[in-house]
Amino acid sequence: MRYKTQKIAYWFFAACMLLFTLQIIYGFIMGFARMGYDGLHEIIPFNTARAVHTNLLVVWMLSGFMGAAYYIIPEESERELWMPKLAVIQLVSLLLVGVTAVIGYHFNYWEGRKFLEIPRELDYLVVINVLTFLLVIFMTIWKGKRKTTTAMVLFFGLLAAALLYLPGMITFKNIVFDSFFRWWVVHLWVEGVWELIMGAMLSFLLIKLTGIDREVIEKWLYVIVGFTFLSGILGTGHHYYYTGAPGYWLMVGGVFSALEPLAFLGMAMYALSMAKKGGRKHPNRIALMWTLGCAVMSFVGAGFLGFAHTLPGVNIWTHGTLVTAMHGHLAFWGAYAMIILAMISYVLPEMTGRSLYKSWMAEWAFWTTNIGMIGMTGAFGVMGIAQVYMERKAGMDFLEVQESLEVHAVGLVLAACLMTAGVILFIRNFIAYGLPVDPTETGGSSGAAGSAAGAFASSKKS
Ligand code: HEM
Ligand code: HEM
Ligand SMILES: [Fe+2]
Repeated sequence: MRYKTQKIAYWFFAACMLLFTLQIIYGFIMGFARMGYDGLHEIIPFNTARAVHTNLLVVWMLSGFMGAAYYIIPEESERELWMPKLAVIQLVSLLLVGVTAVIGYHFNYWEGRKFLEIPRELDYLVVINVLTFLLVIFMTIWKGKRKTTTAMVLFFGLLAAALLYLPGMITFKNIVFDSFFRWWVVHLWVEGVWELIMGAMLSFLLIKLTGIDREVIEKWLYVIVGFTFLSGILGTGHHYYYTGAPGYWLMVGGVFSALEPLAFLGMAMYALSMAKKGGRKHPNRIALMWTLGCAVMSFVGAGFLGFAHTLPGVNIWTHGTLVTAMHGHLAFWGAYAMIILAMISYVLPEMTGRSLYKSWMAEWAFWTTNIGMIGMTGAFGVMGIAQVYMERKAGMDFLEVQESLEVHAVGLVLAACLMTAGVILFIRNFIAYGLPVDPTETGGSSGAAGSAAGAFASSKKS
Protein backbone atom coordinates (compact mmCIF):
# COMPACT_ATOMS: atom_id res chain seq x y z
CA MET A 1 0.00 0.00 0.00
CA ARG A 2 1.40 3.38 -1.01
CA TYR A 3 -1.20 5.88 0.07
CA LYS A 4 -2.78 6.48 3.46
CA THR A 5 -6.29 6.98 2.09
CA GLN A 6 -6.32 3.52 0.52
CA LYS A 7 -7.08 2.31 4.04
CA ILE A 8 -10.72 3.28 3.57
CA ALA A 9 -11.07 0.16 1.39
CA TYR A 10 -10.65 -1.97 4.51
CA TRP A 11 -13.95 -0.75 5.95
CA PHE A 12 -15.80 -1.45 2.71
CA PHE A 13 -14.39 -4.99 2.77
CA ALA A 14 -15.33 -5.40 6.43
CA ALA A 15 -18.89 -4.36 5.47
CA CYS A 16 -18.74 -7.04 2.75
CA MET A 17 -17.94 -9.72 5.32
CA LEU A 18 -20.83 -8.64 7.53
CA LEU A 19 -23.43 -8.47 4.76
CA PHE A 20 -22.16 -11.72 3.20
CA THR A 21 -22.72 -13.47 6.54
CA LEU A 22 -26.27 -12.12 6.75
CA GLN A 23 -26.91 -13.17 3.15
CA ILE A 24 -25.91 -16.74 3.97
CA ILE A 25 -28.20 -16.83 7.02
CA TYR A 26 -31.16 -15.97 4.79
CA GLY A 27 -29.93 -18.59 2.30
CA PHE A 28 -30.21 -21.19 5.04
CA ILE A 29 -33.71 -20.01 5.98
CA MET A 30 -34.71 -20.75 2.38
CA GLY A 31 -32.71 -23.96 2.24
CA PHE A 32 -34.60 -25.32 5.26
CA ALA A 33 -37.92 -24.07 3.89
CA ARG A 34 -37.18 -26.00 0.69
CA MET A 35 -36.53 -29.10 2.81
CA GLY A 36 -40.00 -28.64 4.26
CA TYR A 37 -38.94 -26.99 7.53
CA ASP A 38 -40.47 -23.57 7.15
CA GLY A 39 -40.85 -22.79 10.86
CA LEU A 40 -40.09 -19.10 10.44
CA HIS A 41 -42.79 -18.68 7.81
CA GLU A 42 -44.95 -16.32 9.92
CA ILE A 43 -42.06 -13.89 10.51
CA ILE A 44 -39.90 -14.41 7.43
CA PRO A 45 -41.89 -15.93 4.56
CA PHE A 46 -39.94 -17.41 1.62
CA ASN A 47 -40.42 -14.38 -0.63
CA THR A 48 -39.06 -12.04 2.05
CA ALA A 49 -36.06 -14.29 2.67
CA ARG A 50 -35.41 -14.47 -1.06
CA ALA A 51 -35.51 -10.70 -1.53
CA VAL A 52 -33.24 -10.17 1.49
CA HIS A 53 -30.82 -12.89 0.28
CA THR A 54 -30.46 -11.45 -3.22
CA ASN A 55 -30.44 -7.78 -2.18
CA LEU A 56 -27.78 -8.34 0.48
CA LEU A 57 -25.80 -10.08 -2.24
CA VAL A 58 -26.01 -7.04 -4.49
CA VAL A 59 -25.17 -4.61 -1.66
CA TRP A 60 -22.11 -6.56 -0.50
CA MET A 61 -20.88 -6.79 -4.05
CA LEU A 62 -21.33 -3.05 -4.61
CA SER A 63 -19.52 -2.46 -1.34
CA GLY A 64 -16.73 -4.78 -2.55
CA PHE A 65 -16.45 -2.96 -5.90
CA MET A 66 -16.34 0.40 -4.13
CA GLY A 67 -13.69 -0.80 -1.68
CA ALA A 68 -11.67 -2.16 -4.61
CA ALA A 69 -11.97 1.16 -6.43
CA TYR A 70 -10.87 3.13 -3.35
CA TYR A 71 -7.78 0.91 -3.20
CA ILE A 72 -6.99 0.66 -6.93
CA ILE A 73 -7.60 4.23 -8.06
CA PRO A 74 -5.06 6.01 -5.78
CA GLU A 75 -2.44 3.41 -6.73
CA GLU A 76 -3.14 3.74 -10.45
CA SER A 77 -3.45 7.56 -10.34
CA GLU A 78 -0.47 7.92 -8.04
CA ARG A 79 -2.06 10.23 -5.49
CA GLU A 80 -4.15 10.17 -2.33
CA LEU A 81 -7.94 9.91 -2.63
CA TRP A 82 -9.71 13.17 -3.20
CA MET A 83 -11.76 14.09 -0.07
CA PRO A 84 -11.50 10.78 1.80
CA LYS A 85 -14.03 12.02 4.37
CA LEU A 86 -16.71 11.85 1.68
CA ALA A 87 -15.80 8.19 1.20
CA VAL A 88 -16.44 7.52 4.88
CA ILE A 89 -19.80 9.29 4.79
CA GLN A 90 -20.62 7.36 1.65
CA LEU A 91 -19.93 3.99 3.30
CA VAL A 92 -22.04 4.81 6.34
CA SER A 93 -24.94 6.01 4.20
CA LEU A 94 -24.70 2.97 1.91
CA LEU A 95 -25.01 0.71 4.94
CA LEU A 96 -27.89 2.74 6.38
CA VAL A 97 -29.86 2.57 3.13
CA GLY A 98 -29.12 -1.14 2.71
CA VAL A 99 -30.12 -2.04 6.24
CA THR A 100 -33.29 0.11 6.10
CA ALA A 101 -34.30 -1.58 2.86
CA VAL A 102 -33.72 -5.06 4.24
CA ILE A 103 -35.66 -4.35 7.44
CA GLY A 104 -38.44 -2.82 5.34
CA TYR A 105 -38.78 -6.03 3.30
CA HIS A 106 -39.92 -7.79 6.48
CA PHE A 107 -42.85 -5.37 6.63
CA ASN A 108 -43.74 -5.50 2.95
CA TYR A 109 -42.11 -2.12 2.30
CA TRP A 110 -40.84 -2.90 -1.18
CA GLU A 111 -41.60 -2.89 -4.89
CA GLY A 112 -41.79 -6.64 -5.39
CA ARG A 113 -39.68 -6.65 -8.59
CA LYS A 114 -37.04 -9.36 -8.38
CA PHE A 115 -33.60 -7.83 -7.58
CA LEU A 116 -35.06 -4.30 -7.72
CA GLU A 117 -37.21 -4.56 -4.61
CA ILE A 118 -35.83 -1.37 -3.02
CA PRO A 119 -38.71 1.12 -2.57
CA ARG A 120 -38.59 4.24 -4.73
CA GLU A 121 -37.76 6.70 -1.91
CA LEU A 122 -34.67 4.69 -1.04
CA ASP A 123 -33.74 4.47 -4.74
CA TYR A 124 -33.10 8.22 -4.70
CA LEU A 125 -30.78 7.83 -1.72
CA VAL A 126 -28.92 5.06 -3.58
CA VAL A 127 -28.48 7.42 -6.53
CA ILE A 128 -27.06 10.20 -4.30
CA ASN A 129 -24.77 7.69 -2.61
CA VAL A 130 -23.37 6.34 -5.85
CA LEU A 131 -22.91 9.84 -7.29
CA THR A 132 -20.85 10.76 -4.23
CA PHE A 133 -18.72 7.67 -4.72
CA LEU A 134 -18.21 8.41 -8.41
CA LEU A 135 -17.28 12.01 -7.62
CA VAL A 136 -14.50 10.93 -5.25
CA ILE A 137 -13.19 8.42 -7.77
CA PHE A 138 -13.46 10.82 -10.72
CA MET A 139 -11.69 13.67 -8.92
CA THR A 140 -8.90 11.35 -7.81
CA ILE A 141 -8.32 10.19 -11.40
CA TRP A 142 -8.67 13.75 -12.74
CA LYS A 143 -6.09 15.17 -10.35
CA GLY A 144 -3.87 12.10 -10.54
CA LYS A 145 -0.45 11.82 -12.17
CA ARG A 146 -1.44 9.16 -14.70
CA LYS A 147 -4.58 7.75 -16.29
CA THR A 148 -4.14 4.04 -16.85
CA THR A 149 -6.38 1.77 -18.94
CA THR A 150 -7.17 -0.28 -15.84
CA ALA A 151 -8.36 2.81 -13.97
CA MET A 152 -10.40 4.06 -16.93
CA VAL A 153 -12.14 0.72 -17.52
CA LEU A 154 -12.90 0.49 -13.80
CA PHE A 155 -14.26 4.04 -13.72
CA PHE A 156 -16.42 3.65 -16.84
CA GLY A 157 -17.73 0.31 -15.60
CA LEU A 158 -18.80 1.92 -12.35
CA LEU A 159 -20.25 4.98 -14.09
CA ALA A 160 -22.22 2.84 -16.55
CA ALA A 161 -23.51 0.68 -13.67
CA ALA A 162 -24.81 3.85 -12.00
CA LEU A 163 -26.48 5.09 -15.21
CA LEU A 164 -28.05 1.70 -15.85
CA TYR A 165 -29.73 1.83 -12.45
CA LEU A 166 -32.01 4.57 -13.80
CA PRO A 167 -34.15 2.54 -16.29
CA GLY A 168 -35.25 0.47 -13.30
CA MET A 169 -36.70 3.62 -11.74
CA ILE A 170 -39.16 4.39 -14.54
CA THR A 171 -42.75 3.56 -13.61
CA PHE A 172 -44.83 1.59 -16.11
CA LYS A 173 -48.42 0.48 -15.78
CA ASN A 174 -47.80 -2.28 -18.32
CA ILE A 175 -45.98 -5.30 -16.93
CA VAL A 176 -44.36 -6.12 -20.30
CA PHE A 177 -42.66 -2.72 -20.36
CA ASP A 178 -41.76 -2.96 -16.71
CA SER A 179 -40.11 -6.32 -17.25
CA PHE A 180 -38.42 -5.10 -20.46
CA PHE A 181 -36.61 -2.28 -18.64
CA ARG A 182 -35.98 -4.27 -15.46
CA TRP A 183 -33.58 -6.34 -17.55
CA TRP A 184 -31.67 -3.24 -18.60
CA VAL A 185 -30.60 -3.11 -14.99
CA VAL A 186 -30.30 -6.79 -14.07
CA HIS A 187 -28.90 -8.21 -17.32
CA LEU A 188 -26.84 -5.21 -18.46
CA TRP A 189 -25.26 -5.10 -15.03
CA VAL A 190 -24.10 -8.69 -14.67
CA GLU A 191 -23.57 -9.45 -18.35
CA GLY A 192 -22.32 -6.01 -19.33
CA VAL A 193 -20.87 -3.32 -17.17
CA TRP A 194 -20.05 -5.41 -14.10
CA GLU A 195 -17.85 -7.46 -16.43
CA LEU A 196 -15.83 -4.30 -17.06
CA ILE A 197 -15.42 -3.81 -13.33
CA MET A 198 -14.38 -7.44 -13.00
CA GLY A 199 -12.02 -7.17 -16.00
CA ALA A 200 -10.35 -4.09 -14.51
CA MET A 201 -9.94 -5.75 -11.09
CA LEU A 202 -8.57 -8.85 -12.81
CA SER A 203 -6.11 -6.73 -14.75
CA PHE A 204 -4.96 -4.89 -11.59
CA LEU A 205 -4.45 -8.15 -9.72
CA LEU A 206 -2.62 -9.80 -12.61
CA ILE A 207 -0.29 -6.82 -12.96
CA LYS A 208 0.50 -7.03 -9.25
CA LEU A 209 0.69 -10.80 -8.93
CA THR A 210 2.29 -12.07 -12.14
CA GLY A 211 4.89 -9.38 -12.75
CA ILE A 212 3.93 -9.20 -16.45
CA ASP A 213 4.10 -5.78 -18.09
CA ARG A 214 1.05 -3.60 -17.80
CA GLU A 215 1.03 -3.03 -21.59
CA VAL A 216 0.49 -6.73 -22.29
CA ILE A 217 -2.19 -7.22 -19.65
CA GLU A 218 -4.11 -4.08 -20.56
CA LYS A 219 -4.13 -4.94 -24.27
CA TRP A 220 -6.17 -8.00 -23.36
CA LEU A 221 -8.52 -5.87 -21.33
CA TYR A 222 -9.57 -4.06 -24.53
CA VAL A 223 -10.33 -7.38 -26.22
CA ILE A 224 -12.53 -8.43 -23.29
CA VAL A 225 -14.39 -5.13 -23.22
CA GLY A 226 -15.01 -5.56 -26.96
CA PHE A 227 -16.36 -9.11 -26.62
CA THR A 228 -18.53 -8.13 -23.66
CA PHE A 229 -20.29 -5.33 -25.50
CA LEU A 230 -20.55 -7.20 -28.78
CA SER A 231 -22.43 -10.10 -27.19
CA GLY A 232 -23.87 -8.75 -23.94
CA ILE A 233 -25.90 -5.76 -25.17
CA LEU A 234 -28.09 -7.58 -27.69
CA GLY A 235 -27.82 -10.70 -25.53
CA THR A 236 -30.39 -8.97 -23.30
CA GLY A 237 -32.84 -10.53 -25.74
CA HIS A 238 -32.55 -13.89 -23.93
CA HIS A 239 -34.87 -12.38 -21.30
CA TYR A 240 -37.44 -11.23 -23.88
CA TYR A 241 -38.54 -14.64 -25.17
CA TYR A 242 -42.29 -15.16 -24.80
CA THR A 243 -42.69 -12.09 -22.56
CA GLY A 244 -44.85 -10.02 -24.90
CA ALA A 245 -41.79 -8.37 -26.50
CA PRO A 246 -41.58 -8.58 -30.35
CA GLY A 247 -40.80 -12.04 -31.79
CA TYR A 248 -37.50 -11.03 -33.41
CA TRP A 249 -35.94 -11.13 -29.93
CA LEU A 250 -36.02 -14.93 -30.14
CA MET A 251 -33.45 -14.77 -32.91
CA VAL A 252 -31.45 -11.76 -31.69
CA GLY A 253 -31.37 -12.94 -28.06
CA GLY A 254 -30.50 -16.50 -29.03
CA VAL A 255 -27.62 -15.60 -31.35
CA PHE A 256 -25.99 -12.86 -29.30
CA SER A 257 -26.39 -14.44 -25.87
CA ALA A 258 -24.89 -17.66 -27.27
CA LEU A 259 -21.76 -15.57 -27.96
CA GLU A 260 -21.56 -14.26 -24.39
CA PRO A 261 -19.52 -17.17 -23.01
CA LEU A 262 -16.69 -16.05 -25.33
CA ALA A 263 -16.03 -13.00 -23.15
CA PHE A 264 -15.75 -15.24 -20.08
CA LEU A 265 -13.66 -17.81 -21.97
CA GLY A 266 -11.40 -14.94 -23.07
CA MET A 267 -10.98 -13.83 -19.47
CA ALA A 268 -10.13 -17.35 -18.28
CA MET A 269 -7.59 -17.92 -21.07
CA TYR A 270 -6.03 -14.53 -20.52
CA ALA A 271 -5.69 -14.93 -16.76
CA LEU A 272 -4.27 -18.44 -17.01
CA SER A 273 -1.81 -17.58 -19.75
CA MET A 274 -0.61 -14.45 -17.92
CA ALA A 275 -0.05 -16.47 -14.74
CA LYS A 276 1.85 -19.10 -16.69
CA LYS A 277 4.01 -16.55 -18.50
CA GLY A 278 4.79 -14.54 -15.38
CA GLY A 279 7.97 -16.37 -14.45
CA ARG A 280 8.40 -14.86 -11.02
CA LYS A 281 6.29 -16.12 -8.16
CA HIS A 282 4.60 -13.58 -5.92
CA PRO A 283 4.58 -14.87 -2.34
CA ASN A 284 0.84 -14.18 -1.93
CA ARG A 285 -0.12 -17.37 -3.73
CA ILE A 286 -3.62 -17.45 -2.28
CA ALA A 287 -4.54 -14.11 -3.89
CA LEU A 288 -3.43 -15.57 -7.24
CA MET A 289 -5.52 -18.70 -6.58
CA TRP A 290 -8.65 -16.57 -6.02
CA THR A 291 -7.83 -14.50 -9.11
CA LEU A 292 -7.36 -17.49 -11.41
CA GLY A 293 -10.23 -19.33 -9.69
CA CYS A 294 -12.48 -16.38 -10.49
CA ALA A 295 -11.50 -16.41 -14.15
CA VAL A 296 -12.20 -20.16 -14.45
CA MET A 297 -15.32 -20.39 -12.28
CA SER A 298 -16.95 -17.39 -13.95
CA PHE A 299 -16.59 -19.19 -17.25
CA VAL A 300 -18.18 -22.33 -15.80
CA GLY A 301 -21.00 -20.57 -13.89
CA ALA A 302 -21.81 -17.71 -16.23
CA GLY A 303 -20.52 -18.88 -19.60
CA PHE A 304 -21.17 -22.63 -19.59
CA LEU A 305 -24.21 -22.82 -17.30
CA GLY A 306 -25.61 -19.61 -18.80
CA PHE A 307 -25.34 -21.10 -22.28
CA ALA A 308 -27.09 -24.23 -21.01
CA HIS A 309 -30.46 -22.43 -20.86
CA THR A 310 -30.03 -19.44 -23.16
CA LEU A 311 -31.44 -20.81 -26.42
CA PRO A 312 -35.19 -20.17 -26.88
CA GLY A 313 -35.91 -23.88 -27.37
CA VAL A 314 -34.42 -24.70 -23.97
CA ASN A 315 -35.50 -21.58 -22.10
CA ILE A 316 -39.14 -22.17 -22.94
CA TRP A 317 -38.94 -25.15 -20.55
CA THR A 318 -36.44 -23.99 -17.96
CA HIS A 319 -37.46 -20.34 -17.47
CA GLY A 320 -37.90 -19.35 -13.84
CA THR A 321 -37.14 -22.82 -12.47
CA LEU A 322 -34.35 -23.94 -10.17
CA VAL A 323 -32.21 -24.33 -13.30
CA THR A 324 -31.99 -20.52 -13.14
CA ALA A 325 -30.97 -20.67 -9.46
CA MET A 326 -28.29 -23.24 -10.37
CA HIS A 327 -26.76 -20.84 -12.89
CA GLY A 328 -27.37 -17.74 -10.73
CA HIS A 329 -25.36 -19.15 -7.81
CA LEU A 330 -22.26 -20.27 -9.68
CA ALA A 331 -22.25 -17.21 -11.94
CA PHE A 332 -22.44 -14.71 -9.10
CA TRP A 333 -19.98 -16.72 -7.06
CA GLY A 334 -17.42 -17.31 -9.82
CA ALA A 335 -17.47 -13.89 -11.37
CA TYR A 336 -18.18 -11.38 -8.65
CA ALA A 337 -17.81 -12.99 -5.24
CA MET A 338 -14.47 -14.53 -6.18
CA ILE A 339 -12.99 -11.37 -7.68
CA ILE A 340 -13.87 -9.46 -4.50
CA LEU A 341 -12.40 -12.21 -2.31
CA ALA A 342 -9.30 -12.16 -4.55
CA MET A 343 -8.98 -8.43 -4.04
CA ILE A 344 -9.42 -8.77 -0.27
CA SER A 345 -6.81 -11.56 -0.18
CA TYR A 346 -4.37 -9.34 -2.04
CA VAL A 347 -5.09 -6.14 -0.16
CA LEU A 348 -5.09 -7.29 3.49
CA PRO A 349 -1.39 -8.21 3.67
CA GLU A 350 -0.56 -4.96 1.86
CA MET A 351 -2.57 -2.92 4.35
CA THR A 352 -1.55 -4.61 7.56
CA GLY A 353 2.02 -5.68 6.76
CA ARG A 354 1.19 -9.22 7.90
CA SER A 355 1.54 -12.27 5.69
CA LEU A 356 -1.31 -14.47 6.91
CA TYR A 357 -1.82 -15.76 3.36
CA LYS A 358 0.52 -18.52 4.42
CA SER A 359 -1.93 -19.72 7.09
CA TRP A 360 -3.85 -22.98 6.57
CA MET A 361 -7.09 -21.07 7.08
CA ALA A 362 -6.58 -19.06 3.90
CA GLU A 363 -6.03 -22.16 1.78
CA TRP A 364 -8.88 -24.16 3.32
CA ALA A 365 -11.24 -21.22 2.90
CA PHE A 366 -10.53 -21.28 -0.84
CA TRP A 367 -11.14 -24.99 -1.32
CA THR A 368 -14.12 -25.50 0.98
CA THR A 369 -16.06 -22.50 -0.32
CA ASN A 370 -15.46 -23.56 -3.90
CA ILE A 371 -16.22 -27.24 -3.45
CA GLY A 372 -19.29 -26.30 -1.37
CA MET A 373 -20.52 -23.92 -4.06
CA ILE A 374 -20.00 -26.54 -6.79
CA GLY A 375 -22.03 -28.96 -4.63
CA MET A 376 -24.82 -26.40 -4.23
CA THR A 377 -24.84 -25.81 -7.98
CA GLY A 378 -25.16 -29.55 -8.53
CA ALA A 379 -28.03 -29.80 -6.04
CA PHE A 380 -29.88 -26.90 -7.66
CA GLY A 381 -29.23 -28.51 -11.05
CA VAL A 382 -30.75 -31.84 -10.00
CA MET A 383 -33.75 -30.06 -8.48
CA GLY A 384 -34.15 -27.82 -11.51
CA ILE A 385 -34.04 -30.58 -14.09
CA ALA A 386 -36.41 -32.74 -12.05
CA GLN A 387 -38.74 -29.75 -11.74
CA VAL A 388 -38.71 -29.11 -15.50
CA TYR A 389 -39.57 -32.72 -16.30
CA MET A 390 -42.25 -33.17 -13.65
CA GLU A 391 -43.94 -29.79 -13.79
CA ARG A 392 -43.53 -28.79 -17.41
CA LYS A 393 -43.13 -32.01 -19.37
CA ALA A 394 -45.35 -34.31 -17.31
CA GLY A 395 -47.76 -31.54 -16.29
CA MET A 396 -47.74 -32.33 -12.55
CA ASP A 397 -49.16 -29.76 -10.14
CA PHE A 398 -46.68 -26.99 -9.17
CA LEU A 399 -46.86 -27.49 -5.40
CA GLU A 400 -46.82 -31.27 -5.67
CA VAL A 401 -43.56 -30.97 -7.62
CA GLN A 402 -42.09 -28.58 -5.05
CA GLU A 403 -42.82 -31.12 -2.33
CA SER A 404 -41.17 -33.94 -4.20
CA LEU A 405 -38.02 -31.83 -4.51
CA GLU A 406 -37.63 -31.52 -0.73
CA VAL A 407 -35.40 -34.57 -0.52
CA HIS A 408 -32.86 -32.97 -2.87
CA ALA A 409 -32.83 -29.80 -0.76
CA VAL A 410 -31.02 -31.85 1.90
CA GLY A 411 -28.06 -32.11 -0.49
CA LEU A 412 -28.29 -28.38 -1.08
CA VAL A 413 -28.11 -27.59 2.62
CA LEU A 414 -25.24 -30.04 3.22
CA ALA A 415 -23.21 -28.46 0.43
CA ALA A 416 -24.14 -25.02 1.78
CA CYS A 417 -22.74 -26.06 5.19
CA LEU A 418 -19.39 -26.88 3.57
CA MET A 419 -19.38 -23.59 1.74
CA THR A 420 -20.26 -21.75 4.96
CA ALA A 421 -17.41 -23.46 6.81
CA GLY A 422 -15.08 -21.95 4.20
CA VAL A 423 -16.64 -18.52 4.59
CA ILE A 424 -16.14 -18.72 8.37
CA LEU A 425 -12.45 -19.53 7.81
CA PHE A 426 -12.11 -16.64 5.38
CA ILE A 427 -13.66 -14.24 7.87
CA ARG A 428 -11.53 -15.58 10.74
CA ASN A 429 -8.46 -14.92 8.65
CA PHE A 430 -9.80 -11.46 7.78
CA ILE A 431 -10.18 -10.65 11.47
CA ALA A 432 -6.77 -12.15 12.32
CA TYR A 433 -5.10 -9.65 9.97
CA GLY A 434 -6.17 -6.86 12.30
CA LEU A 435 -6.64 -3.22 11.37
CA PRO A 436 -4.75 -1.50 8.53
CA VAL A 437 -1.69 0.59 9.37
CA ASP A 438 -0.10 3.59 7.63
CA PRO A 439 2.10 2.89 4.57
CA THR A 440 5.20 4.05 6.45
CA GLU A 441 4.70 1.18 8.88
CA THR A 442 4.36 -1.45 6.15
CA GLY A 443 7.39 -0.26 4.24
CA GLY A 444 5.44 2.00 1.90
CA SER A 445 6.02 0.04 -1.29
CA SER A 446 3.27 -1.54 -3.36
CA GLY A 447 4.18 -4.98 -2.14
CA ALA A 448 4.77 -4.41 1.51
CA ALA A 449 3.94 -7.69 3.19
CA GLY A 450 7.18 -9.51 3.72
CA SER A 451 10.48 -8.68 2.09
CA ALA A 452 9.85 -11.18 -0.71
CA ALA A 453 6.73 -9.32 -1.84
CA GLY A 454 8.55 -6.02 -1.51
CA ALA A 455 11.38 -7.27 -3.67
CA PHE A 456 8.88 -8.70 -6.17
CA ALA A 457 7.07 -5.38 -6.42
CA SER A 458 10.13 -3.21 -6.75
CA SER A 459 11.66 -5.44 -9.42
CA LYS A 460 8.91 -4.69 -11.92
CA LYS A 461 7.34 -1.52 -13.21
CA SER A 462 3.68 -1.37 -12.27
C1 HEM B 1 -21.44 -13.22 -14.28
C2 HEM B 1 -22.38 -13.22 -15.13
C3 HEM B 1 -23.76 -13.68 -14.85
C4 HEM B 1 -24.48 -13.62 -13.70
C5 HEM B 1 -24.05 -13.08 -12.33
C6 HEM B 1 -25.79 -14.20 -13.99
C7 HEM B 1 -26.81 -14.32 -13.07
C8 HEM B 1 -28.12 -14.60 -13.40
C9 HEM B 1 -29.25 -14.51 -12.50
C10 HEM B 1 -29.19 -14.11 -11.02
C11 HEM B 1 -30.36 -14.81 -13.21
C12 HEM B 1 -31.81 -14.77 -12.70
C13 HEM B 1 -32.31 -13.38 -12.97
C14 HEM B 1 -33.75 -13.12 -12.70
O1 HEM B 1 -34.58 -14.03 -12.92
O2 HEM B 1 -34.09 -11.99 -12.28
C15 HEM B 1 -29.94 -15.13 -14.56
C16 HEM B 1 -30.78 -15.47 -15.59
C17 HEM B 1 -30.34 -15.92 -16.81
N1 HEM B 1 -29.03 -15.99 -17.26
FE1 HEM B 1 -27.41 -15.34 -16.28
N2 HEM B 1 -25.83 -14.59 -15.31
C18 HEM B 1 -24.60 -14.30 -15.87
C19 HEM B 1 -24.21 -14.54 -17.18
C20 HEM B 1 -24.98 -15.23 -18.10
C21 HEM B 1 -24.53 -15.63 -19.41
C22 HEM B 1 -23.15 -15.37 -19.98
C23 HEM B 1 -25.59 -16.27 -20.02
C24 HEM B 1 -25.70 -16.90 -21.37
C25 HEM B 1 -24.75 -17.41 -22.04
C26 HEM B 1 -26.70 -16.24 -19.07
C27 HEM B 1 -27.95 -16.75 -19.32
C28 HEM B 1 -29.04 -16.53 -18.52
C29 HEM B 1 -30.41 -16.82 -18.90
C30 HEM B 1 -30.88 -17.43 -20.22
C31 HEM B 1 -31.23 -16.43 -17.84
C32 HEM B 1 -32.75 -16.50 -17.74
C33 HEM B 1 -33.19 -17.69 -16.99
C34 HEM B 1 -34.70 -17.80 -16.96
O3 HEM B 1 -35.32 -17.69 -18.02
O4 HEM B 1 -35.25 -18.01 -15.87
N3 HEM B 1 -26.29 -15.62 -17.93
N4 HEM B 1 -28.57 -15.00 -14.65
C1 HEM C 1 -24.45 -20.79 1.55
C2 HEM C 1 -25.68 -20.73 1.67
C3 HEM C 1 -26.72 -20.46 0.63
C4 HEM C 1 -27.92 -21.08 0.55
C5 HEM C 1 -28.45 -22.19 1.46
C6 HEM C 1 -28.64 -20.51 -0.57
C7 HEM C 1 -29.92 -20.88 -0.94
C8 HEM C 1 -30.70 -20.22 -1.85
C9 HEM C 1 -32.06 -20.56 -2.15
C10 HEM C 1 -32.84 -21.70 -1.53
C11 HEM C 1 -32.49 -19.68 -3.09
C12 HEM C 1 -33.89 -19.59 -3.68
C13 HEM C 1 -34.05 -20.48 -4.85
C14 HEM C 1 -35.51 -20.63 -5.09
O1 HEM C 1 -36.11 -19.80 -5.76
O2 HEM C 1 -36.07 -21.57 -4.54
C15 HEM C 1 -31.41 -18.78 -3.39
C16 HEM C 1 -31.46 -17.76 -4.32
C17 HEM C 1 -30.33 -17.10 -4.77
N1 HEM C 1 -29.07 -17.14 -4.19
FE1 HEM C 1 -28.46 -18.32 -2.67
N2 HEM C 1 -27.87 -19.56 -1.17
C18 HEM C 1 -26.68 -19.49 -0.48
C19 HEM C 1 -25.61 -18.67 -0.79
C20 HEM C 1 -25.55 -17.86 -1.89
C21 HEM C 1 -24.35 -17.18 -2.37
C22 HEM C 1 -22.99 -17.25 -1.71
C23 HEM C 1 -24.71 -16.53 -3.51
C24 HEM C 1 -23.88 -15.68 -4.45
C25 HEM C 1 -22.63 -15.73 -4.60
C26 HEM C 1 -26.12 -16.74 -3.74
C27 HEM C 1 -26.86 -16.21 -4.78
C28 HEM C 1 -28.21 -16.40 -4.98
C29 HEM C 1 -28.96 -15.83 -6.08
C30 HEM C 1 -28.39 -14.94 -7.19
C31 HEM C 1 -30.29 -16.26 -5.95
C32 HEM C 1 -31.45 -15.95 -6.89
C33 HEM C 1 -31.44 -17.00 -7.96
C34 HEM C 1 -32.52 -16.84 -9.00
O3 HEM C 1 -32.82 -15.70 -9.34
O4 HEM C 1 -33.05 -17.84 -9.46
N3 HEM C 1 -26.60 -17.56 -2.74
N4 HEM C 1 -30.31 -19.13 -2.64
FE1 LIG D 1 -29.03 -12.20 -19.05
